[in-house]
Amino acid sequence: MPQAAIRRCRLDQDFAGINVLSAEGDGPSASFLQQLYDSGACHSWVVCDDGDDLVAMIWVTLVLEEADVVDLRVAERLRGRGIGKQLLAASLQALRRLGMERCLLEVRESNRAARHLYAGLGFVETGRRRDYYPLAGGREDAILMAFTLEATDSSPG
Ligand SMILES: CC(C)(COP(=O)(O)OP(=O)(O)OC[C@H]1O[C@@H](n2cnc3c(N)ncnc32)[C@H](O)[C@@H]1OP(=O)(O)O)[C@@H](O)C(=O)NCCC(=O)NCCS
Repeated sequence: MPQAAIRRCRLDQDFAGINVLSAEGDGPSASFLQQLYDSGACHSWVVCDDGDDLVAMIWVTLVLEEADVVDLRVAERLRGRGIGKQLLAASLQALRRLGMERCLLEVRESNRAARHLYAGLGFVETGRRRDYYPLAGGREDAILMAFTLEATDSSPG
């Protein structure tokens, strides 16, 4: 896909889009993300389409030199076109510039798309939380993954 237009989230103008995107899946709610934004303890970057509709977002909290991905989400209608990869790669570059040394996240074991994306960019599995997520008819593990920001040069695209 062409280079995605990635910019910092501005909650005042992006909240409606965040609301729509959050409602598509089982990630954090828009109101939770709003609280995170207002706390000043997070960074968020978004992708907008030609009509300036928000089509992807990433939310990251920072503690000392570690970044933690709270949510990464691409609009359902635009998945599989390289937007998630571009957004995450650009965010990793930005996190490195902010002085972060590691980026951490957790992902459902069954989330093939996300795990493929993370592994492709250089995240490695560091552990697992057994039965962490509820699942229809049971539970599933969370896979813990980490990316060393110092060691890899990840460019958007
Ligand atoms: C996970 C998610 C962000 C990926 O974004 P995306 O824009 O669809 O992903 P991309 O098109 O950039 O694809 C990235 C890689 O994953 C692969 N991929 C995409 N969808 C896939 C799928 N369903 N199964 C396997 N691999 C898949 C692509 O082929 C690509 O691999 P490559 O780099 O080797 O070519 C998106 O599917 C999403 O928003 N899912 C719902 C929210 C979610 O689960 N977020 C992650 C929470 S941990």
